[in-house]
Amino acid sequence: MHRELDFTPRVIVGADARSRVAQEVKNLGWLHILLVSDPFNEKMGRTSEVVQLLSKAEVKVSVYADVTSEPDTDMVENGLKQFQTHRCNGIIALGGGSVIDTAKTISVLATNDGTVKQFMGIDKVPKPGVGLIAIPTTSGTGSEVTRVVVIADAESKLKMSGRSRAYVPNVAILDHKLTISMPRSLTAATGIDALTHAIEAYVSRQANDFSDILALNAVKLIWGSIRQAWHDGSDEDARENMLIGSFQAGIAFSNASVGLVHSMSEPLGACFHVPHGLSNAMLLPAVSEFSVNGAVSRYAQIARCIDLADGSMGEEDSSRALIDALFQLNRELEILSPRSFGIDENSYEEHIEKMAIDAVTAGSTTNNPVIPTVDKIREIYHKIYYD
Ligand SMILES: [Fe+2]
Repeated sequence: MHRELDFTPRVIVGADARSRVAQEVKNLGWLHILLVSDPFNEKMGRTSEVVQLLSKAEVKVSVYADVTSEPDTDMVENGLKQFQTHRCNGIIALGGGSVIDTAKTISVLATNDGTVKQFMGIDKVPKPGVGLIAIPTTSGTGSEVTRVVVIADAESKLKMSGRSRAYVPNVAILDHKLTISMPRSLTAATGIDALTHAIEAYVSRQANDFSDILALNAVKLIWGSIRQAWHDGSDEDARENMLIGSFQAGIAFSNASVGLVHSMSEPLGACFHVPHGLSNAMLLPAVSEFSVNGAVSRYAQIARCIDLADGSMGEEDSSRALIDALFQLNRELEILSPRSFGIDENSYEEHIEKMAIDAVTAGSTTNNPVIPTVDKIREIYHKIYYD
């Protein structure tokens, strides 16, 4: 069997790396770009900074800053209209995973005839999209380097995911200074999302030599800096490690798959609007506890690489140390449970059956070290409600 590895071919990393954006646009030969962003980054003056940098280089810019934290088909179509009306020939995404996913989907629709829905699923995009430069302002989804997008249907509100190499951006600009303004709760949720990508990629049934190296290194970077980034958001070293860790975890899972945490997280988002990072964080310790017996040596290896265990400890004890540490991390970073997030107990109970069925049939579930039954998933949803 052949493996295909896809990731963003050009990456610029470092403090103030965003100042390189005009040079990159010039290299790509773009004359008019669509800048996709969100109201927060617009308010922070970041979109206007990019417009100024590009204007100096005589590149025209149309700003589309209407993306919310739950991007849907309408947002993609409105962005596409703007791209076409202004005859743009390239796209820059400036924002978190929602903004980058929207921009990736606009890019694909600009060159392929069809609807958003038609390009969801696996390998459904026939032609490459128009060029895209991704500038993340959060450290979590890794969308700047993955072939994955998640877009909701504007009518049904159902989230759809697409996975195709056409979604991989051309350039990623990793400037950790853009992540400094993230509040604590977002730092925790997006950081644990990135940690989940790294752990799930490493224990995945699709794990390979290439993804393993990046997954373990990402765990090291994120584990070593997440507490500091949460305690002191202005710590530049911690922010840089989180952004690079998130990027590496993105490559790892994009090429090895995620697992049951993500399968169970999506229904929580769909039914109760729990943001993606937070629902993953709610689930990571309990799902890892369930999955550990399917990959004890791999969980033990993760524990050793972040010094939770040493060579003298057996694999069982080492992997247990990791699970305990994941529960502890959630407590330290004040991760909410579904109950403390405000989900009504009766409503949660009513939805559990459907959520469990959706999770068991999700694409990533078969890559988990242990394949769960619907009953087991129901049990985990119950367990995390009160955590
Ligand atoms: Fe994720």
